[in-house]
Amino acid sequence: MRSLLSLALSVTVFASFAHAVHPVEVRGREFVDTVTNKRLMIVGADYQPGGQSAYNPEKKSDALSNGTVCLRDAALLQRLGVNTIRVYNVDPKVNHDECASIFNSVGVYMIIDVNSPLAGESLDRSNPASSYHKGYLERIFGVVENFKNYPNTLAFFAGNEVMNDVGTSKANPPYLRAVQRDLKNYIAKHSKRTIPVGYSAADVREILEDTWAYFQCEIDGKDDLTRSDFFGLNSYSWCGADATYETAGYNTLVGMFDKTSIPVFFSEYGCNKPVGVPRSFNEVAALYGNQMTVMSGGLVYEYSQEKSDYGLVVINDNSTVTLRKDFDNLQEHYNKVDLKLIESADATATRITPPECSSDLISNSGYSKNFTIPSPPEGADDLIKNGIQDPLNGELIQVKETAVPMAVYGSNGAEIKGLAIKPLSNDDTNTPGGENTSGDAQPSSPAASPSTTPKAKSNVGKVTASTGFTVAVALALVLML
Ligand SMILES: *[C@@H]1O[C@H](CO)[C@@H](O)[C@H](O)[C@H]1NC(C)=O
Ligand SMILES: *[C@@H]1O[C@H](CO)[C@@H](O)[C@H](O)[C@H]1NC(C)=O
Ligand SMILES: *[C@@H]1O[C@H](CO)[C@@H](O)[C@H](O)[C@H]1NC(C)=O
Ligand SMILES: *[C@@H]1O[C@H](CO)[C@@H](O)[C@H](O)[C@H]1NC(C)=O
Repeated sequence: MRSLLSLALSVTVFASFAHAVHPVEVRGREFVDTVTNKRLMIVGADYQPGGQSAYNPEKKSDALSNGTVCLRDAALLQRLGVNTIRVYNVDPKVNHDECASIFNSVGVYMIIDVNSPLAGESLDRSNPASSYHKGYLERIFGVVENFKNYPNTLAFFAGNEVMNDVGTSKANPPYLRAVQRDLKNYIAKHSKRTIPVGYSAADVREILEDTWAYFQCEIDGKDDLTRSDFFGLNSYSWCGADATYETAGYNTLVGMFDKTSIPVFFSEYGCNKPVGVPRSFNEVAALYGNQMTVMSGGLVYEYSQEKSDYGLVVINDNSTVTLRKDFDNLQEHYNKVDLKLIESADATATRITPPECSSDLISNSGYSKNFTIPSPPEGADDLIKNGIQDPLNGELIQVKETAVPMAVYGSNGAEIKGLAIKPLSNDDTNTPGGENTSGDAQPSSPAASPSTTPKAKSNVGKVTASTGFTVAVALALVLML
């Protein structure tokens, strides 16, 4: 009896913490939900409120260090319809449990860059050999330790735009493959599940195809840990409301990636020219349409307005947020995405065998043809075998607050009332089709929700953690009497 009771109790308590997005893995050239076997097409936003300087080890702050801020932003990103954020600069010595748990609760995955712009925390593109050392590996393994236990950690970027011209494409590619190998070895040894590792490339057309070819090919057959598990492209070629699939060169990209053996997605997109005009985001229809299913979606650059002028929202000094028209335009396009199309896995996609690495794959004479990957630096083997010292391991925690405490204003300036995260039941992934966001700011607008793809999930009937717990305790007490 007693054990049954404690079982009932522990199941209930466990369940309250266990709402977690499903692990996602790379199968062929797709990201796939390992439980539902549906394809995960990335519907994402790059997330770095405060820009690069938000990462400040002295202040123990980064983009995922303040739960109240994440609550505010997760509520908006949930309505927007994203299922993934990318976070560029994180501190492996900071606790990210609140933020990771909040994003998890609303079905949003995280792609984490392991590097930072601070000295010793990324490869130096002008001299990669000098920056590839034990101290650097301790930093990036620390990021793995910090994020490996969150179920919504989708992937790690081993590098971002390290090659930004032909000159930098000579020495860096082998070092990036070395870093990918080290990360994958560390994950294999110290993480309970595989977490994919890849590279985020600048859209420099002279070296783009070579970079993709260099990173996806396989050296000496199976189990080559140096290759990328996926390929991100920072793409800004679709500019203005009049651009098309052809004028933006999306047709060229699809042609290039047609036979990809690994997932390819836009790790950044959303050209902001012409300057001063809200972005129309017409490329969303193309990216998630029939012609581009070879791609695995993309992440819009970027959530918050920073100096570079790409924001979907403005974060005001008093920590309130005002949506920009870009947010409304993007949501309108997201709401029209055909979820059935983007969630259906392509059975043939898994069959593409990666090409064997060879200099024939590389066309630019300035690009590295060297597939002899540098050995790990001194001390690396010990780090990988025994783990880094004093890792800070994150864990999901219970999300207690759902209401956003600060004011949020629609693009029309009126306050959006009652903004809150809506934790998803059934370990769901967030999908587009959410309530109109700016429209809510208009008091007279009667339930402005033109969505044709209503959310499959809702909060109705969801037993919250605390009610579940109370019910179990009450039940236990009744049975004891
Ligand atoms: C916060 O700042 C914004 C922008 O300056 C302003 O419009 C808004 O009224 C302020 N809100 C509060 C609650 O102070
Ligand atoms: C988190 O952010 C909120 C809103 O900006 C701020 O009021 C609060 O002080 C921050 N918390 C910490 C611990 O910095
Ligand atoms: C290729 O790279 C390896 C180390 O990664 C280096 O030892 C070798 O000299 C390079 N080969 C050429 C031809 O540059
Ligand atoms: C929401 O409502 C506003 C104002 O009515 C409108 O401008 C906007 O396009 C709507 N957004 C969506 C996603 O339908």
